[in-house]
Formats: sequence, structure tokens, C-alpha cells
Amino acid sequence: MATGSGTIDAMRPPGPLADPMLPRFLRIRRASKETHDTVTLELDDSEAAPRFAPGQFNMLYLFGAGEAAISISGSPARPETLVHTVRGVGAVTAPLLRAKRGHVLGVRGPYGSAWPIEEAANTGCDLLLLAGGIGLAPLRPVIYEVLRRRRAFGRLIILYGVRTPADLLYRKELNQWRTHPGVTVKLIVDRAAAGWSGRVGVLTDLLGAVEFDPAETIAMACGPEVMMRFAHRELARRGVPEQRVYLSLERNMKCAVGLCGHCQFGPTFICKDGPVFTADQVLPLLQVREL
Ligand SMILES: Cc1cc2nc3c(=O)[nH]c(=O)nc-3n(C[C@H](O)[C@H](O)[C@H](O)COP(=O)(O)OP(=O)(O)OC[C@H]3O[C@@H](n4cnc5c(N)ncnc54)[C@H](O)[C@@H]3O)c2cc1C
Ligand code: FES
Repeated sequence: MATGSGTIDAMRPPGPLADPMLPRFLRIRRASKETHDTVTLELDDSEAAPRFAPGQFNMLYLFGAGEAAISISGSPARPETLVHTVRGVGAVTAPLLRAKRGHVLGVRGPYGSAWPIEEAANTGCDLLLLAGGIGLAPLRPVIYEVLRRRRAFGRLIILYGVRTPADLLYRKELNQWRTHPGVTVKLIVDRAAAGWSGRVGVLTDLLGAVEFDPAETIAMACGPEVMMRFAHRELARRGVPEQRVYLSLERNMKCAVGLCGHCQFGPTFICKDGPVFTADQVLPLLQVREL
């Protein structure tokens, strides 16, 4: 069975159509509130949509505020509708919560490496997705792709943890996904609230609640770095090889094309070598605190 090493370089994911530093200007077709601090923006990219691969990100530019790296959270089969899910935390993303249909945003990208979808299809491995909070956004294109080409993949196990039930993204879809054959969805929250009858705890608790064969599984994780460290540790304990554990790093970015050094750790640029890495590539970087 092929392993993950080298897969990212061997299958270079798509990039921007023209000058990678030049934004395209796209109009918001729909803005849907997900939670009190998160919105999903659908942009009309029907004129010249570049292809993208699950896991890649764009730089979104809000006039008067600046740019932020945001993962593409829509379907790769529908690049003409460019979808991003944004949590409002700072100078750019907080005002994006108030963006409305018709507003225009600048978009540069797509950038970065991708989740190993084709490796999963070629090997027939099961897919184990571990998402914490907004980390479900870059994994959603994987789910769309697996459901679109269902027979090409093994089982799909989605483990999703959030702080409180009110922080769950894509609520309707979570319920739809679990109705598909061979798909398991398990949720967990840090703190319960009235009406929550599901599990309370940390994401890694869910790993004990699902059956998988470590030798036939590809794991993909995105979320707070502490969650990814614990997820990696637990996956290693269960016997999933490091080369088949993929993590997406969401460190701060500026240029997104390997020019400014803002995201650099030694020889590694998160923007162009990542954000998706195998665990063996990225674990040394997780020891380095953000500057
Ligand atoms: C590859 C990649 C993909 C990403 N995908 C997504 C995604 O899909 N969705 C998403 O919502 N985010 C995503 N992010 C994260 C997003 O890019 C960051 O949250 C980004 O910093 C937001 O930009 P901002 O200008 O709004 O926030 P900033 O103003 O840069 O603030 C960022 C953080 O710093 C804190 N901060 C700001 N100012 C101060 C201060 N003066 N003192 C102390 N703390 C401060 C804020 O509270 C916040 O936590 C992604 C990041 C990367 C690298
Ligand atoms: S963001 Fe500029 S080098 Fe990565």
C-alpha cells in the first residue's frame, strides 16, 4: 500500500490563474450565519474560476481592513461558487461577519497543499477526519468529494468537536452526512448546554468510540494545535503510521506565496509547503510558538 510521503509534491495542487499577488474581485452571492461568530460566504466566481483541491486556501481581501487566509470550504466540483467559512476574530474577519449579498471582496489564490484525496481513492483506505471548531471548514471539501465519488473510497468517519453545542457549524449537513452508507459522524462538546444529549469531553475521546483498522486508515486533522498534538499522539498509540496522518497548520500569513517569510519555520514555508503536512513533516513545527 502506498504511503503518504511525497504525495503532496507528486500531485501538485492547482494554483492561481494569473499573477499570484493580484486579487480577483468577486461579489458575495449569499452570506449565511453559521453561529454567533461565524459566517459562510458564497462568492460568484462564474467568470474565470480556477480549480482548487480540498485543503487549499485563498487570501480574502476586505476593502479598508486588509487580507486574511481563509480555507475554501465548498465543493471542488463547483469552483464557480467559491465558498469560505469565516470566524470573526480580528481586524479582517470580524467585519466580514457583517458582509452581505452584493458586497465585493478581493480574492487571491488558491494556494497551498491539499489533503491526500487521490491517495485515499487509490488505496481504498478508510478516511478518518478529526475537526476542531472552525477546522471543519477545510475538511468539508473532502467530505463533498468523498460523497460525490462514494464508491472510490472506503469508510468515512467524521469526528467533530466544538466548545458548546451553539458552536457547531453546518448543522443540517452533519445530519445529512450521517445518513449516507459507510459514513459515521460523531460529535463532542467541551461544555454541554440545555437540550444537548450528546457527548461531553475532548475530541480525542471520540477515537475510542469508533472502530477502524490503523493499517488501512488515512487520518486528516484540523483544529487548534493542542487538539492536533493530542490527536496525533492518540492515532500513533492506535498504530496509524505517521506518514498517513495529515495535519493542516493555520499559522499567520501575509503574502501566501513564499516571499515575505512571515510563515517560515526553518526551511519550511507554511503557505507554499503547507498548510497540509504529514505528521512526520510537521511535528517539529508544532513545537515552535507563533511569533
Ligand atoms: C491556511 C489557513 C487557513 C485558514 N482558514 C481559515 C478559515 O477557513 N476560517 C477562518 O475563520 N480562519 C481561517 N484561518 C485563520 C485566519 O487566517 C486567522 O484567524 C487570521 O489571523 C484572521 O485575520 P484577522 O485580520 O481577522 O485577525 P487578526 O487581527 O490578525 O487577529 C488574529 C488573532 O490575533 C488576536 N489579536 C488581534 N489583535 C490583537 C491584539 N492587539 N492583542 C492580542 N491579540 C490580538 C485576535 O483575537 C485573533 O485571535 C486560516 C489560516 C490559515 C493560515
Ligand atoms: S506568508 Fe509570506 S512566506 Fe508564507
